[in-house]
Amino acid sequence: MTINKDDILNDLRFKDLSRPEGKILLASPTMHGDEEKYVHEAFESGWVTTAGENITKLEQAVAEYVGVKYAVSLSSGTAALHLATKLAGERLYGQAKPNSGTLAGHKVFCSDVTFDASVNPVAYEDGEAVFLDTEYDTWNMDPKALEKAFEIYPDVKLIVLAHLYGTPGKMEEIKRIADEHGAIIIEDAAESLGAKYKLNGKWVETGALGGYNAISFNGNKIITGSSGGMFLTNSIEDADKVRKWSTQSREAAPWYQHEEIGYNYRMSNIIAGIVRGQMPYLHEHIDRKKEIYERYREAFKNLPVQMNPYDAYRSEPNFWLSCLLVDNEAMCDQVRGENDYLYGHEKGKSCPQEILDALSAFKCEGRPVWKPMHCQPIYRNNAFVTARGNGRGQTNAYIDGVSFDVGADIFRRGVCLPSDNKMTDEQQNFVIEVVKRCFE
Ligand SMILES: Cc1ncc(COP(=O)(O)O)c(C=O)c1O
Repeated sequence: MTINKDDILNDLRFKDLSRPEGKILLASPTMHGDEEKYVHEAFESGWVTTAGENITKLEQAVAEYVGVKYAVSLSSGTAALHLATKLAGERLYGQAKPNSGTLAGHKVFCSDVTFDASVNPVAYEDGEAVFLDTEYDTWNMDPKALEKAFEIYPDVKLIVLAHLYGTPGKMEEIKRIADEHGAIIIEDAAESLGAKYKLNGKWVETGALGGYNAISFNGNKIITGSSGGMFLTNSIEDADKVRKWSTQSREAAPWYQHEEIGYNYRMSNIIAGIVRGQMPYLHEHIDRKKEIYERYREAFKNLPVQMNPYDAYRSEPNFWLSCLLVDNEAMCDQVRGENDYLYGHEKGKSCPQEILDALSAFKCEGRPVWKPMHCQPIYRNNAFVTARGNGRGQTNAYIDGVSFDVGADIFRRGVCLPSDNKMTDEQQNFVIEVVKRCFE
């Protein structure tokens, strides 16, 4: 039987369910009151611009928290990643002409299962992303794929790595391999502020693990300013360069003098006021997210699903999004086209699209796991490397065998569940019930 989204409410499995009051969201801003105070102060003092006390204080607070020397406030995590990528490009290959990117003619190894904002800056800088497959232990870049990638492309010197959904990747292995090849890491910690990793026996915050690091304060992140991001570094020269580039690259001259391409990427003092007010609550948010994750894990014990995994010995995630992975044997038929999908219900089985339809029918917000970058139309011609080697053209019409693609498998079987800090236990119980009924 194939299911139409509108049929869900009439399906016998769901017919007697009634939804609790209130919004049940994926992840939305949780405000505490201090935010308004700092925004108000900015109005009162007249600093309604891209400078002011909120920015200064926020930069100090974040740098101290993450354990880096310098934090530069920017308009978004994407802007932070762009300038991090440009810095890396300049360091590796020198300054580019105004009409050319710093990575022109060069390949960059990139996380594959992530938001495209992680990797687009490589293209902004005219570089070519090579996507590296994912591992099942943390859903992040597979160090084995990185090793294979260096065998195939030994000249690559730059790696862009994201920590998916707030779960740190295998940084010890990845850093070791990067060091062996003299490669720089750009750490995309947009989703993982507050998550830690035990590197060589010492706890380090994500955002302090790369050569260049970026975080995001986008509206759905663990703390937010409605938008905004930061570049984090221990290098005063890099911090100064990012400040200069982000304010249109003005030289020291009495007039507007430009020797480099500039950007308007600074954060406003109003946004900084919101994030400044959120900072003291980062831990409270993480504790609540962890509680949500553990409630799901407990509730799904007898279902054929696993929660998004992490290394409990070497990492402490921030649990930004709780996700589930449907066991292979419990997957009903599901096909996805470019913009549409179809699935057929089978007793005792389900699939992400059915779960998402059921949640959506009851106005609960879920989301598919990020579709891997190497499967995206825009990056379909880019190279893809798995733990077994070249990930393109893995099958042979004349020989039996299947292709190996962990990221595509996690996308096929994974769902991001409502993980909003303000979700009540009653609301979460309802989400749990909907998911359980999908498998009836
Ligand atoms: C992994 C990842 N990288 C980068 C970004 C971009 O951050 P922003 O939205 O602040 O530009 C996001 C989120 O939006 C993200 O989830």
